[in-house]
Amino acid sequence: MKEINVAVTGGAGQIAYSLLPRLISGETFGEDTKVNLRLVEIPQVVDKLEGTIMELIDCGFRQTGELTATSDIKEGVKDADWILLVGSIPRGIVVDGKKIEERSDLLKINGGIFTAQGSAIGEFAKSDAKILVVGNPANTNALIGKNQANNPGQQWFAMTALDANRAKAQLAKKAEVEISAVTNMAIWGNHSPTMYPDPNNALINGVSASEVINDKDWIENDYLPLVQQRGKAVIDARGASSAASAANAAIDTVKAVESPTAEGDCFSAAIASDGSYGVPEGLIFGYPLKTNSDGDVEIIQGIEINNFAQEKIDVTTQELLEEKEAVKDLLS
Ligand code: NAD
Ligand code: LMR
Repeated sequence: MKEINVAVTGGAGQIAYSLLPRLISGETFGEDTKVNLRLVEIPQVVDKLEGTIMELIDCGFRQTGELTATSDIKEGVKDADWILLVGSIPRGIVVDGKKIEERSDLLKINGGIFTAQGSAIGEFAKSDAKILVVGNPANTNALIGKNQANNPGQQWFAMTALDANRAKAQLAKKAEVEISAVTNMAIWGNHSPTMYPDPNNALINGVSASEVINDKDWIENDYLPLVQQRGKAVIDARGASSAASAANAAIDTVKAVESPTAEGDCFSAAIASDGSYGVPEGLIFGYPLKTNSDGDVEIIQGIEINNFAQEKIDVTTQELLEEKEAVKDLLS
């Protein structure tokens, strides 16, 4: 059996509870890969992970390797192949008497976590490690972490797969097709209300979703705000931020990075811009991506961007530039 080292921060949180069994079950890394899992938590909570580990053992998956818990990020990420940075505070909570409404309001609270984690990853994780940031605001947290890691062989992603899954579900429902009929779903930009879940380049049975649906009013006034604000709607309805669907999206992202993308399809995640589509280099920006047969992840080029889409891409780019400016002290 192959062996892989995976570290997950926020191991005692809601998302982790849905995520962890699926990381060690053979589903994510393959039937023939043994997964050594390191769970990282803050010192006040780390003891609880013993209970989580007991449950993971009791799942009885044959792919389960060594299971450990630590509050030391350096120990957690040592020789890691994959690191899922989930640990951070969700919005909806009250800080200093004020409810945290937007993900960007979490910048000051969560941003600091990613400096220490980034430098530990840069120094101690494998030089070709892959890192998925789930904790919000995911794009700018990834920017901070990547900058601190300063290890060019490592690849940082921020999660937009949940947005892509939400967008596909809404398009499928409207068009009255199976969700598997919806492909090529690109989320451009930030995991925030400015994201652009692209309905023109998304396909329904191989035809542009906008053409199939043929209802501009629904696209602009129902579909877009619904997808952009779905995280808030879940928080309002559930009293807690999405967890099972977020864990599912994290698994989808790892699988998409680990296996070649089907011809004509894409997956969505935010990665460091190389200037593609006019986005300033270095911003962690949501793009349509593909994994090629060598296992490299590339931004898909040549996608047609109409004026409406360009306006949306400009807005989300601007927001990410503002977030970058707000954390400039954490980037130096
Ligand atoms: P949660 O509060 O249930 O769990 C978070 C856990 O992180 C807690 O157990 C906490 O102790 C731990 N933690 C905090 N600081 C840490 C640190 N420095 N090191 C290690 N662990 C630390 O929250 P959750 O519902 O699991 O959500 C986690 C994050 O994911 C939130 O920021 C949430 O907004 C975000 N999220 C992102 C997406 C996305 O699509 N990108 C989707 C859902 C949630
Ligand atoms: C989501 O999209 O569900 C998460 O980012 C949680 C949130 O704050 O919306």
